[in-house]
Amino acid sequence: MDQVTDKGALARQLNVDAYWAPFTSNRRFKSNPNDRTMVAAEGCYFTNANGVKIFDGSSGLWCTPLGHAHPRIVEAVTKQVSALDYAPSFQVASANTIQLTERIADMAPEGLNRVFFTNSGSEAVDTALKIAMGYHRLTGQATRTRFIGREKGYHGVGFGGMSVGGMVANRKMFAPGMVNGVDHLPHTHNLSQMAFSKGQPEWGVHLADELERIVALHDASTISAVIVEPMQGSAAVIVPPIGYLEKLREICTKHGILLIFDEVITGFGRTGWAFAAQRLGVIPDMITFAKAITNGIIPMGGVIAKQEIYEAFMSGPPAAIEFCHGYTYSGHPMAAAAAHASLDVYEEEKLFERVRELEPLLEAEFHSLKGEPNIVDVRNFGLTAAVEFAPSPEGPSTRSLAVFEAGLREGLYMRYSGDSLAFSPPFISTEQQIKDMVSLLRKLIRDVA
Ligand SMILES: Cc1ncc(COP(=O)(O)O)c(C=O)c1O
Repeated sequence: MDQVTDKGALARQLNVDAYWAPFTSNRRFKSNPNDRTMVAAEGCYFTNANGVKIFDGSSGLWCTPLGHAHPRIVEAVTKQVSALDYAPSFQVASANTIQLTERIADMAPEGLNRVFFTNSGSEAVDTALKIAMGYHRLTGQATRTRFIGREKGYHGVGFGGMSVGGMVANRKMFAPGMVNGVDHLPHTHNLSQMAFSKGQPEWGVHLADELERIVALHDASTISAVIVEPMQGSAAVIVPPIGYLEKLREICTKHGILLIFDEVITGFGRTGWAFAAQRLGVIPDMITFAKAITNGIIPMGGVIAKQEIYEAFMSGPPAAIEFCHGYTYSGHPMAAAAAHASLDVYEEEKLFERVRELEPLLEAEFHSLKGEPNIVDVRNFGLTAAVEFAPSPEGPSTRSLAVFEAGLREGLYMRYSGDSLAFSPPFISTEQQIKDMVSLLRKLIRDVA
């Protein structure tokens, strides 16, 4: 069947019956699909089936910081498909995938220099958890099997990631499938203490001490790893309090617990450095990544591990498979081509530095929304920001959903999560585009929030 690309025809012909949308109110979507159906994208803009040009205020799902249809990526992927479209990753490999590991290791914090590929953030998280468990077993500490996550954390939708995740809505339906023995740190979001903080809040470092309590409760000998997002993205930009991650690092080191930073959102520039670990000066034992590595256009994820973790696996008979884990599409050559091109552009156009340059503007623009109707918080970090609304008597998410839907009609795409809206514009945004985004947001809030 020919794909429908003509916008008018699409609006008339689209039959949404068979479509089951992920993380979406399907009934709401299907009551008005055209606003939400994208038919084209270029640079920082989508076009929807109604022909509305929409600024991509969230870089898709935090994953397209170079915007859409970037000519360098288009060219790289086009060339790759005729050069080597696929190579298995079990027992053999693609050359460009191997080269990519070297580049990623060079960008990662010192000591994290072994890269295992997956196809998504969820798979990256489950892989990191397995590596942690395997590492302890191989180093004679097989009792270390527990994982510690954090409330409001999002680590994807695999059974491992869901179990360490801390979003109630994602967990309650699947309670019997939770991985055994997982515990959670408290989240650090507290409006009475930190509303309208710019960058890292000054309040909240003491919440890291909860890890000591959890360790005392379960005993360190049972705990494998702590996993946190350095900045909680999906919960709408919950920024780590000053000193908090440092404290987690200290406690993990003291008790021989591995620290995993889930940098699926923060990895590859979102905070102005390749990884948030570098911006914050806290080095974990493993980093999970996905999204921006390929500018989101071909799925790819992975885990970067400290060399000593990798070395622990290199034991047993020389021909034995050391880690019985992997995916048919791990390190797919097409994804690797998109990743090389994306890394070239980040580097050549100094886009991580650009994030640092844009951060003060983004901060000032978003904080100027204080005082607009029903806003109870504005927060920001790197090239991300969120606004939070007071709960509506009509129910959770009412205001954020109304603004989200109005945005699609008037030309702004954003993420909504609970009563918050989250923004992560492309690194290639101009200053004017950021100002225009916030100005349109202000109008939408006044109109419908
Ligand atoms: C921190 C974090 N980890 C994991 C994931 C899951 O990634 P994916 O949707 O690629 O499975 C996400 C997705 O947003 C994420 O933000």
